[in-house]
Amino acid sequence: MTISHLRLGVNIDHVATVRNARGGNNPDPVRAALIAQEAGADGITAHLREDRRHIVDTDIDGLMDALKIPLNFEMAATPEMQAIALRHKPHAICLVPEKREEVTTEGGLEVAKQDNALALYIAPFIAAGSRVSMFIGAEKAQVEACARIGAPVIELHAGAYADAWAEGRWADRDAELSKITDMAAYAHELGLEVHVGHGLTYDSVGPIAALPHVAELNIGHFIIGEAIFRGLGPAIVEMRKHMDAAREGLA
Ligand code: PXP
Repeated sequence: MTISHLRLGVNIDHVATVRNARGGNNPDPVRAALIAQEAGADGITAHLREDRRHIVDTDIDGLMDALKIPLNFEMAATPEMQAIALRHKPHAICLVPEKREEVTTEGGLEVAKQDNALALYIAPFIAAGSRVSMFIGAEKAQVEACARIGAPVIELHAGAYADAWAEGRWADRDAELSKITDMAAYAHELGLEVHVGHGLTYDSVGPIAALPHVAELNIGHFIIGEAIFRGLGPAIVEMRKHMDAAREGLA
């Protein structure tokens, strides 16, 4: 079965990165989110990091107030973030691993080795009605652990696939794509909703968008970069076109 509408979540973290480079209010991530909404994004993704290097708490307040489309609140599984998420009760919560020294989210979450702790951690979100997703590598043990703890959604980390594509390592790209393909199908079979994200571009999005069991893509860095050249709305519309072209014929 193909999931007919492939959703696009636009990650606006790097609008905040540019703002924070100078301090002050410009450019405003909430304004970017509203433009993304207007351009056809199905959701907005924002990662509130422990060090607040891009998105800050007032951005989350502003996004919750202003958006009509769902907010996907990305966060590490810490007590501080749990309290913030429970205060806002966003549509979606995506748990990611977080290292202070990393430039971006490098790997997937280790769910398989901390089943019990994560099951307890996500229970209040599920009770509060937020859709919980776990950002994981495309590995069977992680997918199975997500199903075991009752997380309804997984997001498969596309970073290795995207890097291989960017560096022209075609055999690696194909190997990574086939891991994502297999794990998307397996997760779907286990009843999980499947998302994919990290590092996707106009070039690399097609083969991922064509996977019939994938329901949502979350894309940020490339879109925000492309917005410098085309404007944010047109950059999103173009991404949508690439996704739709890849999806055509699957329905
Ligand atoms: N999905 C998750 C869980 C992420 O952490 C990120 C950002 O690191 C993205 C999607 C978007 O990745 P990118 O900015 O590389 O498109």
